[in-house]
Amino acid sequence: MKVASTKVNFDVESIRKDFPILSREVNGKPLVYFDNAATSQTPQQVIDAIVDYYSRYNANIHRGVHTLSQEATDAYEQARIKVQKHFNADKSHEIILTSGTTHAINLVASGFSSLLKENEEIIVSALEHHSNIVPWQMLCEKTGAKLKVIPMNDNGTLNMEEYEKLLSEKTKLVFVNHVSNALGTINPVEEIIRKAHNVGAAVLLDGAQAAPHIKANVQELDVDFYVVSAHKMCGPTGVGMLYGKEEWLKKLPPYQGGGEMIATVTFENTTYADLPHKFEAGTPDICGGIAFGAALDYMNAIGFENIATYEHELLEYATEKLLEIEGLRIYGTSAEKTAVISFNIGDIHPYDIGTIIDKLGIAVRTGHHCAQPVMDYYKIPGTVRASFSFYNTKEEIDKFIEAVKRAKTMLS
Ligand code: ALA
Repeated sequence: MKVASTKVNFDVESIRKDFPILSREVNGKPLVYFDNAATSQTPQQVIDAIVDYYSRYNANIHRGVHTLSQEATDAYEQARIKVQKHFNADKSHEIILTSGTTHAINLVASGFSSLLKENEEIIVSALEHHSNIVPWQMLCEKTGAKLKVIPMNDNGTLNMEEYEKLLSEKTKLVFVNHVSNALGTINPVEEIIRKAHNVGAAVLLDGAQAAPHIKANVQELDVDFYVVSAHKMCGPTGVGMLYGKEEWLKKLPPYQGGGEMIATVTFENTTYADLPHKFEAGTPDICGGIAFGAALDYMNAIGFENIATYEHELLEYATEKLLEIEGLRIYGTSAEKTAVISFNIGDIHPYDIGTIIDKLGIAVRTGHHCAQPVMDYYKIPGTVRASFSFYNTKEEIDKFIEAVKRAKTMLS
């Protein structure tokens, strides 16, 4: 099927052939995978990179003079450069390869425990994933700093007037997701960063949900820290990125001690390695890092503009069809959204809808989506969340709509 859009230039059917999992059946039905915000699927090109690494040059990096170690080191450092180029970081040593977004956030939070003082303030938003709330609460407990929250509006956007009121010379850090995982809202991050910088605060953007859809340019954003997970963008689980401006990464102390992050060790004194190794203690996920680079190559070959345009078509199509179902409410109706739809039907429990449609081969996430404050705001236990990717189709959405209607009939 050639996509029926003048702006999109790719063939979805041929893209789907890159993803072996998309041709499997679940419960006797063809898989319809709409849980992309939890984890994306993996194209053959990335699977091949993983197989190639373990088949030909599996070795530890930065340690050996032997050929395999050098080949693995070169491939890993090439991957770092791919990540740097993708996010347009100024220097490759501003890219720290982590085990994912949560690791990256905890690394920064732990580092700030030696820089923050009692009664200084940290701002997060009401739309955050737990991984961008709990580490800062732990940091506040350690330092005596105070946590402030940007409230949300009914449509799932942030209340920017209240944000301005929270900012003061006491604000040292602002942490906001680029895109909300629970609702898909794209936050006005340029404005958030500018206003934080006006009071001298640093900004960390959780880009986990933006990265599969939006190519963030960290220099243009002028953001201090940007964090992502590879597994949301066609890469493997267990690997991700912390981008930090060099000046900040130099100021933060190491997160973990161990091999690789040191320059010299004696029992009297240890000195630390230069960036990025100062933050990369122990043997990393070498294969994962290399596969992350392959995933970026894959997505860039399709093109992020194509991806965004096509996914927006899917979002509009599914939104319109879902709203035809009586009693269905969509949470998160910002004009600026990625292809995520969170919804409930009347007082039917989201888990029940998810379970029934799974029997029809359809994978969605149900529950609070690790964003309990968002659910508390709407006074609901959770939602059904369908999240689309560039390899999904309108035909799949039609099957999903029929399945949701069937679940509604069975549960009403
Ligand atoms: N953070 C992931 C999600 O939103 C797991 O589903």
